[in-house]
Amino acid sequence: MTNHIQEAIWDQDLILKYNVTGPRYTSYPTAVQFEDCSAEDFMAHITESARQSKATAPLSLYVHVPFCQHVCFYCGCNKIATKDQSRADQYLNALEEEMKTLAPYFRGRPVQQLHWGGGTPTFLSGEQTKRLIKMLRQNFDILADDLGEYSIEIDPRVTTPDRLMLLRELGFNRISLGVQDFNEPTQIAINRTQSYELVEESVTAAKEYGFFSISFDLIYGLPHQTQESFDQTLDRVIELNPDRIAVYNYAHLPERFMPQRRINESDLPSPSEKLDILGHAISKLQKAGYVYIGMDHFAKPDDDLVKAQEEGTLQRNFQGYSTNGDTDLLGLGVSSISHISNAFLQNFRELDKYEEAALNGVPSTFKGYSLNNDDIVRQQVIKDLSCNGWVDYEKLDEQFDIDSRAYFSHELVRLASLEEDGLVKLEENGIKVTMQGRLLLRPICMVFDAYLQRDAHKASFSKVV
Ligand SMILES: C[S@@+](CC[C@H](N)C(=O)[O-])C[C@H]1O[C@@H](n2cnc3c(N)ncnc32)[C@H](O)[C@@H]1O
Ligand code: SF4
Repeated sequence: MTNHIQEAIWDQDLILKYNVTGPRYTSYPTAVQFEDCSAEDFMAHITESARQSKATAPLSLYVHVPFCQHVCFYCGCNKIATKDQSRADQYLNALEEEMKTLAPYFRGRPVQQLHWGGGTPTFLSGEQTKRLIKMLRQNFDILADDLGEYSIEIDPRVTTPDRLMLLRELGFNRISLGVQDFNEPTQIAINRTQSYELVEESVTAAKEYGFFSISFDLIYGLPHQTQESFDQTLDRVIELNPDRIAVYNYAHLPERFMPQRRINESDLPSPSEKLDILGHAISKLQKAGYVYIGMDHFAKPDDDLVKAQEEGTLQRNFQGYSTNGDTDLLGLGVSSISHISNAFLQNFRELDKYEEAALNGVPSTFKGYSLNNDDIVRQQVIKDLSCNGWVDYEKLDEQFDIDSRAYFSHELVRLASLEEDGLVKLEENGIKVTMQGRLLLRPICMVFDAYLQRDAHKASFSKVV
């Protein structure tokens, strides 16, 4: 099925009606379902994956670098603020041991995707960066000549043009930059001052050194933001012309993330102001030529993500949308999550526990989840809805040997009211997400989530908008 590019439609009443709390479905089941999981469980899963996979099956690798030089008050990522760069040496030792323990199970599998996230991967010095790439090359089949999709998260405040040149030489071909907002009072309130010129310098250097794709992270709902101030930020973003833009909803959970307690709640925009900021941002970015992919993400019409969505082959994983993510994913480093042969497995979130296990040559898994058959079917439906806006009954029937209309009879009844509101169309051969629905993918996907009602008390998801 081919989707043609259309504009997502902003309908304020509908958005208000469906503005419930819910997951962003970077995985299904979500991390709320993860249970205690031992190193032995992890070994059983990777042994099974090694047994099942062809030697040539592609692999995705994620490496978490947890350090940051400064702490941004809004941040909900797993990070450690320090100015001491030598702390990364011990961490690299642990990563090296973790790779030696796990890599033998993935021998020969081409690394189609590599992503360094954080924290701030460019916290590492040039030498530390080269060491980490060397370790990856020694242990895994890292591809040469830009055959893989190799990306890294960049903080423009700690990334010089020379560092970008080094990253390009080492094989990275995509970068994402933390931009957030250019408005000065907002930057001060979030403890992240970074000028337009600094971001421009990174973008110019990245283009000069031949990165294929430049992506920006923005956040709406931050202190002192107004529709007008965010509009000015967007003007400057559009001038810089990134290929992809993520506009995240600020998730304010101060009971979970300590630095957020330093944000004055009275400085945050009200829910209705937030809605105005988002509605305006979506229409402005679409007018500037960006396509709304879904779940916070925009891309240029000629970007691979848009092409994949048009062809119905878009994927979604912990890093957001991607063109070829339907592979085993091995997560390395503190707090990273792997998705291997129908199981999710997460490493310790505390640095000392992670390093101790890794240095002792045992997997540092502490939580995980093995998907049952029902999870696997629902995972596919949620992926089809959030990536490609189309669920094909016949394809599901064949893939899982089910009668999907009967299997999801309750869900189809619940979807009828979403159809009345214009979010989906229940067609003879499948479920289609409408352009209004593309802005409300979360409540649509939530209909297929078997755990949401049961475990609502365990989760602290943010609102849809
Ligand atoms: C690991 S950081 C990006 C790399 C680098 N550390 C930087 O800040 O430039 C990933 C992104 O998560 C987003 N983020 C972090 N905390 C958030 C929160 N509480 N709500 C919404 N988005 C958040 C930010 O947009 C941030 O750029
Ligand atoms: S947003 Fe990036 S730089 Fe800021 S604290 Fe979080 S991970 Fe570190």
